[in-house]
Amino acid sequence: MLIHLPEVLSKEQVARMREALLAPAAPWVDGLATAGHQGARVKDNRQLNEASPLARELGNVILEALERHPRFISAALPLRVYPPMFNRYAGGGHFGAHVDNSLRLVPGTSMRFRTDVSATLFLAEPEEYDGGELQIEEVYGTQSVKLPAGDMVLYPSTSLHQVTPVTRGERLASFFWIQSMVRDDAKRSLLFDMDMSIQQLGVQNPEEMALVRLTGCYHNLLRMWGET
Ligand code: NI
Repeated sequence: MLIHLPEVLSKEQVARMREALLAPAAPWVDGLATAGHQGARVKDNRQLNEASPLARELGNVILEALERHPRFISAALPLRVYPPMFNRYAGGGHFGAHVDNSLRLVPGTSMRFRTDVSATLFLAEPEEYDGGELQIEEVYGTQSVKLPAGDMVLYPSTSLHQVTPVTRGERLASFFWIQSMVRDDAKRSLLFDMDMSIQQLGVQNPEEMALVRLTGCYHNLLRMWGET
């Protein structure tokens, strides 16, 4: 399931982040540096050196914003969040159809991390560039995503996806992965829908006993499916 999270970052936070990313000293490298074997054939972009202090500093701003975002927690059920990375596409830059690597080493550690949910946080307004759509193949067809700066999309890491060529302007974004407590997308989506309904019912009728039972069902499903 694709989930849109609006205003993960405020416009002020986006502006500060862009200023730091677009400063001449920012350590941008060829995106091929982190591409897998298949990805390397279809990838044409630049990435901020993920080991740089700037990447850590800006990544932490995003991680802090996510910790305060109940919809993110409910949708991703995060066990671990990979340190956010940053990329830019211009002059025809693109990333052809691929599936993200299933396992990644957390930088600077020997810890392996399974990618269950992929995240893209947009850092350029849609009108600043042409192309650069994130196209995700879903069971019901291909979805095209291009969101306002500060908004984020979550999608299953199992899905085939691509970024179409940027033919005008520049697309700036952060991207990263989440290892979820619930690895299966269908189960995670069901829990998310259930949680959204429980929250809505809780506003309308917080004392209802059926709601208490339904909340219990949610937690018991999470207990059944969750890994920690
Ligand atoms: Ni990808």
